[in-house]
This record gives sequence, structure tokens and C-alpha cells, in this order.
Amino acid sequence: MSKLWGGRFTKKTDQLVEEYTASIMFDKELAEEDIQGSLAHVAMLGKQGILPLTDVERIQDGLLRVMNRIRRGELEFSVSDEDIHMNIEKALIDDVGPVGGKLHTGRSRNDQVATDMHLYLRKRVVEFVGMLVKLQEALLGQAKANLETIVPGYTHLQRAQPILFAHHMMAYVSMFGRDAERLQDSYKRIDMLPLGAGALAGTTFPIDRHFVASKLGFGRVYENSLDAVSDRDFIVEFLSNASMIMMHLSRLCEEIVMWSSTEFQFVELDDSFTTGSSIMPQKKNPDVAELVRGKTGRVYGNLVGMLTVLKSLPLAYNKDMQEDKEGMFDTVKTLQGALQLLAPMISTMKVNKDRMRQAVNQDFSNATDIADFLVNKGLPFRQAHEVIGKTVLYCIQNQKYLLDLTLEEFTQFSKLFDENIYKVLQPENVVNARNVYGGTASNQVADAIGRAELEWQKTQAWVESFAEKSK
Ligand code: ARG
Repeated sequence: MSKLWGGRFTKKTDQLVEEYTASIMFDKELAEEDIQGSLAHVAMLGKQGILPLTDVERIQDGLLRVMNRIRRGELEFSVSDEDIHMNIEKALIDDVGPVGGKLHTGRSRNDQVATDMHLYLRKRVVEFVGMLVKLQEALLGQAKANLETIVPGYTHLQRAQPILFAHHMMAYVSMFGRDAERLQDSYKRIDMLPLGAGALAGTTFPIDRHFVASKLGFGRVYENSLDAVSDRDFIVEFLSNASMIMMHLSRLCEEIVMWSSTEFQFVELDDSFTTGSSIMPQKKNPDVAELVRGKTGRVYGNLVGMLTVLKSLPLAYNKDMQEDKEGMFDTVKTLQGALQLLAPMISTMKVNKDRMRQAVNQDFSNATDIADFLVNKGLPFRQAHEVIGKTVLYCIQNQKYLLDLTLEEFTQFSKLFDENIYKVLQPENVVNARNVYGGTASNQVADAIGRAELEWQKTQAWVESFAEKSK
């Protein structure tokens, strides 16, 4: 059979044009959604009396057979049928005969492809919130196991103040919590039906868009037909949310790479999540963490690529928009790969508490606390800062840490020092002194874990209820 749109043409399409304009190589990913949309569309055509119910049934049965053939990998897609929409329509007509040609009544590929993308991303967004929940679970597990583990906290990658390792893990729980929230919020803009917009202006058939929306479980129908077929904001938004998740993952991965180096030795990754070197037998490389860090680049690239495709694009549909797919599929795959590996990699990660403690004992990260000690004795903070600066310098010159100084040595720098300074300087006390909401004191972190677990349960419940809705 010739092309579904062949009537107007007197010449065959050039082979190279055919290959250049086809999208079947990648949009076959949308087969399930395409058939799901067609089933709802044809049911509506029947309900509205646009097609006789006998035709509707034959088309629906045919579509289900085509779907099964696709699922079993039995349908051979062809580049000359350009895209998934026409490949499926062709297979339908081959299966049920000319009546299959009635499916496309009152519809265009423009509103059809937009509908497929909405259906596709709606499922993915729920899956991704579910994966973020799993990652948070792993981080919460490490937090709970390390409520007493003290580690240097850094600014400028210089030791700054001691913190609980649990507090550090909980920072990531918060970050991924915001990511989940953003995805959940984006859901309402994905949960919209474009179908019924036709090519751009609507259709002359008495269709019922709200019926199709409810069949497909969409919360809303696009208000404007031009907007419906040319809107790709929801894809940009997804790519942006994905970029933010990858950015967060890359920061976590960078820390894991650092922490597992011989220089830090703060954590050890499980053998099953690391790889070896082909030449250096001693090596155990954090390849997964490095790759997640590296793959962040392609996700950003997909976001910028999509924004650029849409820039200055006139309304309504333009073939440029076919470029919305590969970047989106690649982002979905990249994000799935990263999230799927990170959760077990975090939960199986061994935390070297002794090494962290040793690091805390051999640094000046308790210096702020002696300054605060003097402030509590009435010295203005700026002067206290100066005194402690000198004290630290003395320590460095004499190869000592603050806790090694005798009271006599302390009082050389200020008469306000007394015995209590030794208590104040203990890392546990330094940590627990940060007893403010959101601070690193152990009771604050325990409270934060409690609050995060409540949020976590709510998000988990959202995933369960929306997984059902977006099927
Ligand atoms: N394969 C096309 C795409 O993904 C489907 C829509 C084609 N519409 C058209 N008028 N050529 O954008």
C-alpha cells in the first residue's frame, strides 16, 4: 500500500527524505500510549454516533490485536510509514480492512502525538517520584544508623564545624524531597488532554473531548486548540526537573567519590557497586558515582536542546517538534539508570565511623565554639574571633590541636578561659550546642528524621494512588 497521505502526490518520496523525516526508530516507544489514546478516541466516536458501533468494535478489536503483536515483538515497523501513529494505523487497516481507515476521523497526528506524550510522561513522573522515595529511604537508613557519627562539616572544602553524618544525609533527603515535590506539582500540567484539537483548529465532527479525557483519566482538557498541539512546556518542565535531580545526584556522587578515596576513607562502597582496573590490581573504583556525575551533562544538554528547538517556533505544529522525543527518552533512561543504582549503593555503603572521628579529633573545627565561649563571658565576637585566630596559629606552630592545650596556654590568649573550655571543645558538645531547629544537635536531627519520615509516607501514598490513576 502507498502512503496514508499519498493522494496529493504524483512522485514517490525520495529515499533519503523518507529516512530523514521518519521518527519510527525512536517513537515506537510510544506504541502503548498511542493505542491507549486510539481506543478512547474510537469509543468516543461511537458514543457520539460519528461511527456505527459495529465499526467501533471492529476497530477496537483490531487495535488490541495490533497491541499484542507489538508486545510480542511481531509487528515489523517500517520507515516508509514514518512514525508510530501511521505504522499502527497501517497495521490496523491490514488487520481489519478499510474500516480501520475510519479511526482517524476527527483527529490529526498533531493532537494524537501530543496526547501520547502526555500519557507517557504522566506514567514516568509517578515512577520517578517512586524512585526518589526509594532513594530517600536509603538516605534515611544511613541517617538513622549514624545519629552518633560525627564528621567534619566543610565549607570551601576546608574543615569548618563538626556535624553529625546523619545531618549530612538528611540534607540530601531534603533535596530529593523538593525534587519529588516539583515532579508532583508538574503532574497537573501533564495531566491534560490535547486530543480534539485536530491539526490546529478543532474539528467539524461533534466530538466529546471531556469523554475522552475521562476515559484516559486526564484531569483537564486543553482550553485552546492551537496551544494544545504546540505546547511542549510539560516536556521542558520534565527535563528541567530531571536536570535538577541529576544535579543533586551529581553532588552526592561527587562526595561519595571523595569520601571513598584513600585521602578521606570516610566510606567504603560495597564491592557489588564498584569496578576494578584492568591494569592496577589494587583498585576499586566508584564508577557508578562517576558516571552519574558524568551523565548529568547529557540531561542538561537535553533540556537546553528542547528549549532551543522551541525558541521562536511559530504556532502551531511544526515538524521541528518531532525533536522533542529523543532527548526526553534519553533523559528518562538516564534518570532511571541513576536512581535505580543510587538507592542500593547508598544503603550498602559502609560508613567508617572511626575514621570520621579521627578526622574530627585532628582539626580545628571546634574553633567557633571557643570563640562563642568567650562571647558568653562578655567579649565582643569580633575580639573573640581575633583571640582564637591567634590561639589556632599558636597550635599550628606548635603542632597541637585545641584540646591539647593546657589551661595556662589558653590563658595566655585570654584571661576569660577556665576549666569549662575542655567540655565545650568536645566534639559531641560542639555538635549538640547547635540546638536550633534545622541544626546538627542530635535531638534536632532525630526530630528532623521524624518529620522527614512523615513526609516520606505521604509521598509514598501519593505514588500508590497516582500509579493507579496514570495507568
Ligand atoms: N511524528 C510526528 C511528531 O512526532 C507526529 C506528528 C506529525 N504531524 C505532521 N503534521 N506531520 O511530531
